Amino acid sequence: MNAHSQITSEKLALFHAQLEKNKSLPGPLMPTLHDAQHIFGYIPISIQKIISKELNESIAKINGVVTFYGNFSVTPRGKKTISVCLGTACYVRGSQNVLDTLKDDLHLADGETTKDGEITLQSTRCIGACGLAPVFSVGEHIYGNASVSKVKQVLKEMRQAVNETK
Ligand code: FES
Repeated sequence: MNAHSQITSEKLALFHAQLEKNKSLPGPLMPTLHDAQHIFGYIPISIQKIISKELNESIAKINGVVTFYGNFSVTPRGKKTISVCLGTACYVRGSQNVLDTLKDDLHLADGETTKDGEITLQSTRCIGACGLAPVFSVGEHIYGNASVSKVKQVLKEMRQAVNETK
């Protein structure tokens, strides 16, 4: 496990403070899950148990929500997430090729994270940018008209950026 994915007492304290605030909301579950994802980078079963107890919701329900939405993850995410849209418009314009290029280059399956904890690769459903199809994103940044050469260039730049911070 990478340092940034560890569940420290500081992160737990922050999470509990958010949880207490969320309890006063009409629907506290989704905000709490967003907080957990943001604070820990993922929502492991140990955190789901805390949420279950504090919000009086079943683990089955919480786990169902966590695994349904692409925004949440039960395993540690990398510092950066590369998402490739496999929605219809992107798929017919070749986004599977883009995803396969990333899988080969990073030696990752869909949903996995590099061993150094830097990059998570994931496919997504339509992200609402069909006019730019095929698209992939790195964090909040969306790349349109994606191609194999474009994604290789972006990967190269990401690696350079990582090396410069080491
Ligand atoms: S199908 Fe990819 S953005 Fe809509």
